[in-house]
Amino acid sequence: MGAHVRGVGTALPERVVTNDDLAATMDTSDDWIRERTGIRERRVGGTTGQLAIEAGAKALADAGVDPAEVDLLVLSTTTPDQRTPATSAAVHAGLGLRCGAFDVNAACAGFTYAWVAANGMMELPHGPRRVLVIGADALSTITDWTDRSTAILFADAAGAVVLEHRPEPNLLGWDLGADGSLVPILYCDHGDTLKMEGREVFKRAVRAVVASVENALERAGLTPDDIDVLLPHQANIRIIEAVCSRLGIPADKTVNVIETTGNTSSATIPLCIDAARSAGVLHEGRIVCMTGFGAGMTWATTVVRW
Ligand code: COA
Repeated sequence: MGAHVRGVGTALPERVVTNDDLAATMDTSDDWIRERTGIRERRVGGTTGQLAIEAGAKALADAGVDPAEVDLLVLSTTTPDQRTPATSAAVHAGLGLRCGAFDVNAACAGFTYAWVAANGMMELPHGPRRVLVIGADALSTITDWTDRSTAILFADAAGAVVLEHRPEPNLLGWDLGADGSLVPILYCDHGDTLKMEGREVFKRAVRAVVASVENALERAGLTPDDIDVLLPHQANIRIIEAVCSRLGIPADKTVNVIETTGNTSSATIPLCIDAARSAGVLHEGRIVCMTGFGAGMTWATTVVRW
């Protein structure tokens, strides 16, 4: 069987924060941020729950699926609104769902982890036939807005897909990984803000993503040449360029949103799915590779026949 995308939805806060806005309050510049990260502006505002509900409602409407027809909600987030319950509980109520619901926290790799989990659960006896998978984060709530090494990167958004069980298999390959010894290079303690060793994260991210994509492709019996569309986690355009160059994937096969969204953690890959669909590149049968990495470190790749 396969978990096929039947609907997509996104949510971006209204407030736009440009690089010049940041340069007005800290020692940085539009030129530096664009050159080192590829980011021009980002959206800030809202809670994880609010953004997730908006994206989820749009995905259900896009799919033409009634909330009562959803069999499972999986919400990926790094920024839950409460310590307990999981934010998926508020989203469940907000969307009027009647199914099971749980959160996944695998940082910026979370949406891809959630996709693999949803696909796997569909294969269980009596498994769900329709799963709403949402990636939502309000990273602005854990960002130190006086720290130029992190404030330039992180922002808020949500993206959602309705995955539907169909007989044709479509998850050709996947790879989930973690290295918990790397917690100290990117973390946020309760009540505090994100702490990051940027250069170290950059280096490790490139290595982890290249190896993860290679592993998922090998399991699929494919090579980088077979990838039609690459939807990478949006953390830094230079990380994406380094990954593409190492894998020999032409840059025009990737779909990026980072220039106008910044790094929105769990939301970046579903935002890219939406952008890829709008760009008309997600034809049926195409080989689409989604790959993410984040704090933990975690990494996750799926190779899907669309
Ligand atoms: N504006 C201007 N100068 C800045 C700056 C900013 N916002 N941030 C850092 N600098 C300065 C540094 O102080 C340093 O100055 P120095 O040479 O005088 O010491 C110089 O720029 C280079 O700093 P460095 O940290 O080496 O820059 P970089 O090219 O590695 O870019 C990041 C910094 C954070 C953009 C980059 O390391 C990165 O994106 N890392 C990955 C982060 C990530 O992906 N996190 C999320 C994972 S999901």
